[in-house]
Amino acid sequence: MSFCVLGTGSYVPPKVVTNDDLAAFLETSDEWIRERTGIRQRHVCETESTCDLAYEAAVAAMAQSGVKAEELDMILCATISGDFATPSVACVVQKRLGAICPAMDLNAACSGFLFLLDTAAGFFARGRVKKMLVIGAERISRLLDWDDRSTCVIFGDGAGAMVLGEGDGYLASQLHSKGDDDVIRTPVFEGKSPFNRREQENPYIHMKGQETFRFAVNAMTHDLKNLIAQAGFAEEKIDWVIPHQANIRIIDAAKKRLHIPPERFCVNIDRYGNTSAASIPMVVDELNRSGKLNRGDLLALCAFGGGLSSAACILRW
Ligand code: ACO
Repeated sequence: MSFCVLGTGSYVPPKVVTNDDLAAFLETSDEWIRERTGIRQRHVCETESTCDLAYEAAVAAMAQSGVKAEELDMILCATISGDFATPSVACVVQKRLGAICPAMDLNAACSGFLFLLDTAAGFFARGRVKKMLVIGAERISRLLDWDDRSTCVIFGDGAGAMVLGEGDGYLASQLHSKGDDDVIRTPVFEGKSPFNRREQENPYIHMKGQETFRFAVNAMTHDLKNLIAQAGFAEEKIDWVIPHQANIRIIDAAKKRLHIPPERFCVNIDRYGNTSAASIPMVVDELNRSGKLNRGDLLALCAFGGGLSSAACILRW
């Protein structure tokens, strides 16, 4: 027993920031950002919190699924930008929905939602849950150094959610970690301990772009190829590829290396940028609501990011 998807939802804050808006205060241009990343705009929080984004996405997914808050057996949220060290985003959403189940957050950076789906599959396999709400939510804008043009132009805020029920839709998965605190690194606030002698590093996302790029192309291609073979499918049998939306050039490189028609790769990075753990469930929700998904379709989801981490899974819709 694993799970099937009963409903999806997503939410982005209303404030749209275009590349030209960024060029007004950064040494960058719409042309550079579009050509090097595929991004035209992103949504950025003004007054909204990560919990607000998560809650709105959850409400949309719950409405589509028809599942009531009191039926939920667990809520999980993947995030690196929760509003509090405690309570977790999942706990805040639990309270707002009026649910009474356990709730917790999980951190695997941009791969977080896929690590979370695998965790969810374990709860279903043990018969511990019948209905589960899973969310990826990020207010990455608060982790960015807005003077650093090599990072702040590529991210955006948003949330995506799924309601899961008992079923056999989770067919195969792979999770990988390659511990590295240098390539992608976001230091935390050091606190005010009178005994602390550690230096405060800038608490923003630091990223070695080209190293991340190489890791991403390898991880995406390698994970997907291995996973599809492990699941016993020919690559051409995959109906939809849901890649983490980090850079259109990473997705294009994966397209060239896989035997899957390019039009089956789902892309929304042009409108939202990289929303980290929210990226994959936002794309799935967009695809679901477009009406293009059919029961029985095979979806290959793949992500990579801080940790370093990468993950992939195959879902039967
Ligand atoms: N506007 C204009 N110029 C820029 C900008 C910008 N926004 N950013 C960098 N540049 C300049 C650099 O300064 C450099 O100039 P120089 O040649 O004079 O030194 C030049 O552009 C080229 O810089 P590169 O870093 O080589 O640019 P690249 O083509 O690699 O693109 C990017 C940078 C977009 C960050 C790319 O490397 C990338 O997408 N990497 C992967 C990021 C990713 O996937 N992250 C996911 C994980 S994040 C997480 O888990 C939280």
